[in-house]
Amino acid sequence: MFSEVLYPTKASLLTLSSEGPYMDIAKWNKSYETGNKVVDAQHQQLFRMVNALHAAILENRSKDLLMPTLEKLANYTIEHFHSEEALMAEVNYPALAVHKWKHEDLTHEVEELVGKYKSGQVVLTVTLSNFLANWLQHHIKEDDMDLVRYLQAQAKSAAASSSGS
Ligand SMILES: [Fe+2]
Repeated sequence: MFSEVLYPTKASLLTLSSEGPYMDIAKWNKSYETGNKVVDAQHQQLFRMVNALHAAILENRSKDLLMPTLEKLANYTIEHFHSEEALMAEVNYPALAVHKWKHEDLTHEVEELVGKYKSGQVVLTVTLSNFLANWLQHHIKEDDMDLVRYLQAQAKSAAASSSGS
């Protein structure tokens, strides 16, 4: 039951979004597709995890159940950021520093929140899941899309120079 909240199956996601009591807060659609398979798969997983956190908050789950959901999301987010940053470094992406700064900014905010939640200074409300869904959606459309456009331009010029030689 709990693992289904953390890693919803396709069927349970459908239930959550169309028939269940809770609407998905982060709805995936084609406009979030970057065309980079790895990045897209990670983003989709982040959407699922934000939705799982949102549902768990709405269900008023106890701290024992909410904490691992929040920590899994935080850890996966950091993993995803690192993989994007490695990709950016690999291609000498000119906006790496700014993009990385945005990742670090969110990471610090989430780490601070996890600490406060652990020590009982704050409670988790849908303000958090709303914030995370919005952050993710804006970040994909504004920052990750720029990165993918750069990757595509690089690939194109590499193809052009190899066919020209
Ligand atoms: Fe990013």
